[in-house]
Amino acid sequence: MNMITVRDRESLRESVRSARAAGKTIGFVPTMGALHEGHLSLVRIAKGEGAFVVVSVFVNPLQFGPNEDLARYPRDEDKDARLLERENADLLYRPDPSRFYPADFSTAVEVAQVSDGGEGARRPGHFRGVATVVAKLFLQVQPDFAVFGRKDLQQLAVVRRLVRDLDFPIRIRVGETVREKDGLAMSSRNAYLSDGERRRAADLSRTLFAARARAGHGEADAAKLEEEARSQLAAAGLSVDYVEAVDADTMTRVATVVPGVALAAAVRIGKTRLIDNVFLSDPKD
Ligand code: PAJ
Repeated sequence: MNMITVRDRESLRESVRSARAAGKTIGFVPTMGALHEGHLSLVRIAKGEGAFVVVSVFVNPLQFGPNEDLARYPRDEDKDARLLERENADLLYRPDPSRFYPADFSTAVEVAQVSDGGEGARRPGHFRGVATVVAKLFLQVQPDFAVFGRKDLQQLAVVRRLVRDLDFPIRIRVGETVREKDGLAMSSRNAYLSDGERRRAADLSRTLFAARARAGHGEADAAKLEEEARSQLAAAGLSVDYVEAVDADTMTRVATVVPGVALAAAVRIGKTRLIDNVFLSDPKD
């Protein structure tokens, strides 16, 4: 069946309603476009459940800070549509920004605690923007489940808390981080890297996996692992924004590595800011 593309919520609702009437469950994959294999892996998870799969492509202005890359964020509508068609996505939802956020839009969703540290501390308002757009998209699409990537660990924690706290009747499924051959986590922002920067970028994941190996061999001191990772990143010429061992559910810093603790980091390479994370010890479930 061919993919439908819609820009308004009325057509979205109509399509979702008829899919539901035909007995389908509804799976939802929210994205900001410039799609890559990481995004497509989430679509495959949703298709794998036999669902009617809705993918949104919307560069959400609310989650960008004033000095961030909203204006130059990569956009390629035709390529995104082609890739999604190839994955047999059922509906592409591409809302029109001025209709999505009318000029007097005045509501925000704030998920405290999990939003406070890590990315939230460095990008004030970012997770308010994410939680607001995700809540709005959830209400528009009304899916049975939604798929998010582990790549954005804190975002995943924020969305899970949002769904739990506000009783959204939506299951959250997780897609593991899809990486390039040299380990670099796929990201739309990788397109900003020059060839030289691209080669150095692999040191981010290399460092995180080295810390995971050290933890696997028995190093449980989180501060030590953080510090080692920081100096390895600096030695590789990457400018370290933060390296933090955190509980992946609550996003609070930990002193000791136990199951479910991840090492999350952000670095700058030239003008590009990259984030990544790995579990130092895999969660039990
Ligand atoms: P975006 O960065 O486009 O990512 C969309 C989804 O793809 C997120 O769930 C993200 O975690 C996942 N993803 C990105 N890179 C991945 C990779 N290498 N492997 C696996 N999954 C990956 O995240 C957003 O958009 C926005 O904040 C959004 C949730 C759409 C709200 O605006």
